[in-house]
Parts: sequence; C-alpha cells; structure tokens
Amino acid sequence: MSITARSTPNIALIKYWGNRNNDLRLPAADSLSMTLNSPYVDVTVEHAEVLRVHSTSKQLTSKDIERFAKHLELMKMYLVVDSIPNSLNIQIDSHIPSGIGLASSAAVFSAIAKAVAGLIDQNLTDEQVSILARLGSGSASRSILGGFVAMKNVSEGMDGAVAEQIADEKHWNLHDIVIIPSGDEKKVGSTEGHAGAWTSPHFATRLEAIQKYRQQECIDAILNKDFEKLQHISEEDALDMHHCMETQNPALKYLSEDTHHILAQVRELREREHVPVLFTMDAGPTVHLICTDEAKDTISGFAHSQKNCKVFEASVGPGAHCI
Ligand code: DP6
Repeated sequence: MSITARSTPNIALIKYWGNRNNDLRLPAADSLSMTLNSPYVDVTVEHAEVLRVHSTSKQLTSKDIERFAKHLELMKMYLVVDSIPNSLNIQIDSHIPSGIGLASSAAVFSAIAKAVAGLIDQNLTDEQVSILARLGSGSASRSILGGFVAMKNVSEGMDGAVAEQIADEKHWNLHDIVIIPSGDEKKVGSTEGHAGAWTSPHFATRLEAIQKYRQQECIDAILNKDFEKLQHISEEDALDMHHCMETQNPALKYLSEDTHHILAQVRELREREHVPVLFTMDAGPTVHLICTDEAKDTISGFAHSQKNCKVFEASVGPGAHCI
C-alpha cells in the first residue's frame, strides 16, 4: 500500500529562529505563520526494507539522504509502536519552481509526516502529525494545518512543541506576493543558522519579546483582522530576526542591497497610497509582501515593476492533506 500527501510552504509572521534542542528541533520560542495555497509538493510513501528516497526535481545529496534517515529514525522513536517495521520508500514530486526563494523543506517534511500518518493508520491528531513534521524541519510543523497557525512550546521532550490552528483559511483571504531578486542562492541553510542563534547578544531579548507580547499580539491581530497591527508586529519581528542573524557568530547576512531597495519602495508606496501591505523576509533576500484582497492588484503591479526580479503569487491555503 502507498499513501500520497500534498503540502505547501508557509510564511512566518512571527519567525522561528534558534532551538532549545537542535536534534529534536524544539524551538527556542513560539512562532506563527500563514499556510500558502501554492506551490505544492506531493510525497508518496510505502513500506520498504531499506530507506529509499527519490525526488523528481532534485538530485539528492548524501547530506539530504542523511536528513531523511534521521527524520525517519526520530519518527519511529516518537511513534514507539512498530508501525514502521523497517523502512520507507519515499517519492518526492515537487512543483515548487526552483530559484523562487521559497524553501521546499516545510512542504516536503509536512507532506512526509502526513503521508506516514496515513500509512500507519492510527488516527493521529493534527497535533501529533505536526510533531512528526517538526522532527524533519521546524517550520514544517506549521504546514500541517491550514490558515493561520502557531507553533507553541508546550513541554520538554519530543512532543514539546506542537502546531495549533489560530484561524482557518476562510477567516481572512490574505495574499503573499513574493519578489525574488536575482542573485546568489543562500549559502548557509536554516538548520546550520538555527544552531548559531544563541551566539547573538540580541537573541535573549528577542525571545523575551516574543514570549511577552509579540506572539499574542500577532494572534490578536489575526483574529480581529487588524492589518495595521499585524503589519507593525510582524515587521518588527522579521527585522529583529535579521538583526539577530547578522550579529550571531558566524554572522549571517541574508538580506541583500536589492532587498533593502525593495523595502524602501514598499515604505514609500505605503506612505503615498496607504496600501495595506506588510513585508517579511526569511533566510534569503526574497521579499514577501503580505496584503489584503483590496491591495492585491496594486501590490502585484508593484512587484512586476521591479527590475531583474522574479515574482510568485500565492494566497492563504488549506495545509497538508492526503490525496
Ligand atoms: C527563517 O524550518 O527552515 O524561515 O528546522 O532547520 O528546517 P529547519 O529550519 P526551518 O527554519 C525556518 C526559518 C525561517 C523562519 C520561519 O519560517 O519561521
């Protein structure tokens, strides 16, 4: 028997950066994101004697295979029972265009978790499936659910951080207009970056701010559809994460001159036309412009007017599901 699950990336409004346990991907702080409706990844799993992973879009390196093997090992530890007797055959069919600055790991590991949950057929809750996903990639836990999703620290141990839906995808039809400046791919991946987070002198203050007010204010802004508040709090958090990245050792400078140039223009546009739009950036120079329905055409036009940039458009989506 084989099971196929489909999943998509998510874009964080309160960013996950740094772990309290790197091996188990237990985040240092809570985070919050919007699950996107595209682009998607399909993952098919079936029982096998030895682990085999095949991707239709990427030549997998030995480092990639090691990561899948580690994920499988952790999933088996978490599931305890002999649900996965030996190993898995994993087929990854990614529809994420390459070089658009959207990390595929959240979509891939959430799809693996959802498919494995289907394969072992034990009626796992979404919370449990989000733990399976988190063991492969921290942000993947949030893609298990649709709409607006928090990742919450709840305890020590493997099940110590879980995803929780704040509001489903029908609650607020926000869009993510992604502007990808042409240029180099990121050199240091998130997994390596997370490990250095604690070396930033600003990291402790960041954790305190998220815990004291940011996460809750972001949840309130979403529940009340208060875009201005969402803009204020999520931009504060994104810039704060990059400040930590740039001051950790070794320093990680993900934002480029192009990024800053785009941000300056977004601020100008906002001042001139009072458009409801907010910016956020992950571990790369790509700018995500989150906007409401009413602002979508203006922001799309703005994005397409940027020279030497690719543009990708998505909206809030439903989360991982078996197909
Ligand atoms: C900057 O989930 O990609 O996008 O667990 O190592 O796969 P791994 O890290 P990952 O980290 C996400 C970092 C971020 C912020 C976010 O999505 O919250």
